[in-house]
Amino acid sequence: MARILVLGVETSCDETGIGLAEVGRGLLAHRVFSQIDLHAAYGGVVPELASRDHVRRTVPLVNETLAAAGVRLEDLSAIAYTTGPGLAGALLVGAGFAEALALALDIPAIPVHHLEGHLLSPMLSAEPPAFPFVALLVSGGHTQLMSVSGVGDYVLLGESVDDAAGEAFDKTAKLLGLPYPGGPILSKLADQGVAARFKLPRPMLHSGDLMFSFSGLKTAVLTATRQPDFTPADIPDLAAEFQAAVVDVLCAKAKAALKQTGLTQLVVAGGVGANARLRHVLREELGRRGARVYFPELEYCSDNGAMIAFAGALRIATGKQGASTGGVFAVRPRWPLAELA
Ligand code: KG4
Ligand code: ZN
Repeated sequence: MARILVLGVETSCDETGIGLAEVGRGLLAHRVFSQIDLHAAYGGVVPELASRDHVRRTVPLVNETLAAAGVRLEDLSAIAYTTGPGLAGALLVGAGFAEALALALDIPAIPVHHLEGHLLSPMLSAEPPAFPFVALLVSGGHTQLMSVSGVGDYVLLGESVDDAAGEAFDKTAKLLGLPYPGGPILSKLADQGVAARFKLPRPMLHSGDLMFSFSGLKTAVLTATRQPDFTPADIPDLAAEFQAAVVDVLCAKAKAALKQTGLTQLVVAGGVGANARLRHVLREELGRRGARVYFPELEYCSDNGAMIAFAGALRIATGKQGASTGGVFAVRPRWPLAELA
């Protein structure tokens, strides 16, 4: 039988990611270029610079990815690309590239939801979860609990009413004077600190639902730094308490979601899924109650093209690739995941 090969293109934020997946087989190759050095001088992502760099990186990364798998352009069966949510200009680079290549090769283009890519990425692991499961999506822009019964079958159980957990990490890092990218740097500092020295709230821990709120935590950190006896030497301990507070809430709500749905598998996806404390605490606490937690491999936690190629391949395998776009497309900078079918 002919191989069905799907190229994946991810340009929603500050990583250019290209992946190649085969239907029925999985990931064949992928390459990521991170723009961290480009944005570091500005202390955060500059959208216009991000778009311009995606233009520079996309074609070379596609060539590298295909070469790594020994696949030619004309062997491709479909091109999946991130159509949202994300930065509009950055999304347009990937969408324009993918739609043009699909037209030129006369193959379908498959628009993919960025969070669906994250959500399915733990399935790239050697021991993948099987449907159904609860997904805890923790990226830079989203903190959501979803009930997942199959590809495209996502029911929102709860989400953040303000900042996402990743956003809280980034903003807190900034107010503590840490460089971009703040989240991972703050978490490294936190791992060297002692949590309980400062006392920060666990927002909405007892709200009785599956909603989150993280913006107050950032303000509580700011208040702590303004105490007269606060010195830079206290930063690791304050970072540790901040991280503990976020992890406590994520963990408690994830457990409540499993209880509410009666499911026993939790899948964690998105950049904050790389957090070592979150991984450790969830494994311990869920293991104790006979539930199981799955994380993406670290290389698939942050943005990448592998998860987009893989999501495209799963959509083809399940007959859910959608109607042909025929080269007519729009990106969706804001796009609720639960709208997918
Ligand atoms: O999924 P992702 O790469 O991009 C989005 O789709 O948003 O997530 C990026 C987010 C950022 O907010 C970043 O600070 C956070 O993930 N992040 C972390 C860690 N690594 C990345 N947050 C906490 N601990 C980490 N180790
Ligand atoms: Zn992402």
